[in-house]
Amino acid sequence: MLALENVHTYYGKSHILHGVSIEVGPGEVVGLLGRNGVGKSTTLKTIMGLVRPSGGSVRFEGRDIAGMAPHRPAHLGIAYVPEERRIFRLLSVLENLRTGLDRPGVSESRKNELLENAYEHFPVLRDRRNQAGGTLSGGEQQMLAIARAMMLDPKIILLDEPTEGLMPRMVSQIREIIHVLHRGGVAILLVEQNVPLTLEVSSRVYIMEKGVVRHHGPTADLRANQAVIHQYLGV
Ligand SMILES: Nc1ncnc2c1ncn2[C@@H]1O[C@H](COP(=O)(O)OP(=O)(O)OP(=O)(O)O)[C@@H](O)[C@H]1O
Ligand SMILES: [Mg+2]
Repeated sequence: MLALENVHTYYGKSHILHGVSIEVGPGEVVGLLGRNGVGKSTTLKTIMGLVRPSGGSVRFEGRDIAGMAPHRPAHLGIAYVPEERRIFRLLSVLENLRTGLDRPGVSESRKNELLENAYEHFPVLRDRRNQAGGTLSGGEQQMLAIARAMMLDPKIILLDEPTEGLMPRMVSQIREIIHVLHRGGVAILLVEQNVPLTLEVSSRVYIMEKGVVRHHGPTADLRANQAVIHQYLGV
């Protein structure tokens, strides 16, 4: 469904991605692991058209999406929850969620259904629906960012380090929502530094180092290969 092939991405003259190939099938949860600064976020930004690759291809359902205007992937069914979350701090929780619903072709009843579904999985967002986004805790803002992505009714969600800096209880909630999305048939490309969580929720894993994919395969293979985990992830 999503396929990056031999992707090269630069920031100015810095060559960041050196021929990255990654695939995610329909409904599949795929982990993308790697230490700080190896190019994980750049990979997601390249998929979203926030940076244009200088070479290689990014295809979604057979269509070349590399370098598309950033709103286009969203229309095709790709939702993106960036590392910095980008909650509208002055808008209420409900208004934040509505930004994901204001698009053509969604009936009022479908909008209500999507909202209800989000509230069901994140009750705290219902409780705080009239509160400004900026007043939420870090974990609640992460939930809001994921819930807003769910408003798009996506086929795939790109999650960039959703558990970074969160308390264990919040990490459990993020784990739970990943399971919920998976059961609902949504594919996920999960960028993480939390290795145990990624190994638990993903069926396949890619490990990057310095802009190159060094390892990829079924999660079970990686779990049995502690040497690789130690070499590239240092745990
Ligand atoms: N806008 C930018 N301009 C120039 N260089 C950048 C820019 N964004 C990131 N970089 C560099 O590109 C490299 C890859 O960054 P990227 O954010 O993709 O890494 P990452 O794997 O997501 O790291 P982290 O785990 O810290 O989030 C790093 O060396 C970083 O300093
Ligand atoms: Mg990053």
